[in-house]
Amino acid sequence: MQEENRQLLLRLADLENEKTTSNSDNEDDDDSKRLRGLSRSQSRLRSRSRNSNKYKYSRSNTGTFSKHASSVFSASTSANGTLFTDITNYSFDFEEIKSEMSNNNWEVIDERAESQNKQLYLSKIKNSVEELDTRDVFNMEQINSGALGKIYKCTHRKTQQILAIKSITLSSSKLLNVTYSEIMACRRLRHPNIIHNFKQYIYEDYSSTNDYNSELPNYVLCLLMEHCEPGSLWDVRHKRPSKRLTEQEIAFVCREVLKGLEYIHSMGIIHRDIKAQNILVSNNGTIKIADFGSSSLHSRASLKLGTLYWMAPEVLHNQIYNSKVDIWSLGIMAIELIDGRPPWFPLGQRRVIELIRTVGTPPLPSNISLDFENFLRDCLEVNPDERPSATDLLTHHFLREFSSNIENFHL
Ligand SMILES: Nc1ncnc2c1ncn2[C@@H]1O[C@H](COP(=O)(O)OP(=O)(O)O)[C@@H](O)[C@H]1O
Ligand SMILES: [Mg+2]
Repeated sequence: MQEENRQLLLRLADLENEKTTSNSDNEDDDDSKRLRGLSRSQSRLRSRSRNSNKYKYSRSNTGTFSKHASSVFSASTSANGTLFTDITNYSFDFEEIKSEMSNNNWEVIDERAESQNKQLYLSKIKNSVEELDTRDVFNMEQINSGALGKIYKCTHRKTQQILAIKSITLSSSKLLNVTYSEIMACRRLRHPNIIHNFKQYIYEDYSSTNDYNSELPNYVLCLLMEHCEPGSLWDVRHKRPSKRLTEQEIAFVCREVLKGLEYIHSMGIIHRDIKAQNILVSNNGTIKIADFGSSSLHSRASLKLGTLYWMAPEVLHNQIYNSKVDIWSLGIMAIELIDGRPPWFPLGQRRVIELIRTVGTPPLPSNISLDFENFLRDCLEVNPDERPSATDLLTHHFLREFSSNIENFHL
């Protein structure tokens, strides 16, 4: 491994240490953690691991890093926050659905089987990305941490542009096929309403061991992308004193997200995790869909993946579903932007699954315009065949009426 790479690892480890120290003093409240998909026990696991296991590194004579404490990094990223995966308790019989669907000649991908083929996907990932060359970037500063990875702000040496890096430790990622999807989706997609990805890198992480006796070595995947200064819509909303977005702003955001969705659906990709935290606002107020870490590269999918509160009923009914699940999540996100939380929050997982399955369309916020209500009802139509597509919704009266005067998002 090159000297520069080691320097970066050291920097990442330092950042991890800084984060460990600062976070333990300034924990978010329970509500905000749960809203971001963390259960109370996961949050506890995170803070316990942060407090008890501090990183200590030393450089051996050979120049490699050795580690003296069990890894905080692996432990904290294992608290699989945002993703709701049900891969171990899969209750539906894929073969049954497959035979049902075969009459219709649909392309049915057994994502569950794919996700178990970790070695295949690890080699696919390694073959499709470059080895990290830290000469490309400098001034790395951690700005956020998500379910599977951490987000850093950095400067691109050649262009002096401020960029963002998302780093994902592959050994802590249960679903390497999905990580692979994120790389492929990032590569394929070029649209003003999709976060722009520049390059993908991989490096071997000698600074942490994995805690799961996983057969995988610790590889870290880095996605280099444009940096969005205000951050996600969730951040923007929470930074506002009013903690509100107006209907005009929500109409504008929905219109821009729908333009992005129309494009990704036309490319046969389903995002599967549309929510305020995954929609970024760029420096000039453009709305960008980000985080393709749960996406499906197939237009029909079967995996229960995404974030529970935003999930469409058909995903929880163990059906083969399609891009309409993103429209449902958009409707939930619009409610989130009004109420600050999705419907049924903060009920426990089991209860929420039951409610989404049985009640279907959730209660809508009060005091909203009739147009907005109609828009929400369309997005939250239980039957995916009757739920409009992104293209259909772009002509919706609510968007035409409310967003026509807005050219970009004002913070
Ligand atoms: N390009 C970026 N610019 C600025 N902030 C970002 C960027 N990408 C992600 N973030 C911040 O980091 C958070 C987590 O990123 P995300 O890609 O959603 O990771 P995860 O897959 O772990 O959820 C986002 O909600 C956002 O606040
Ligand atoms: Mg995310």
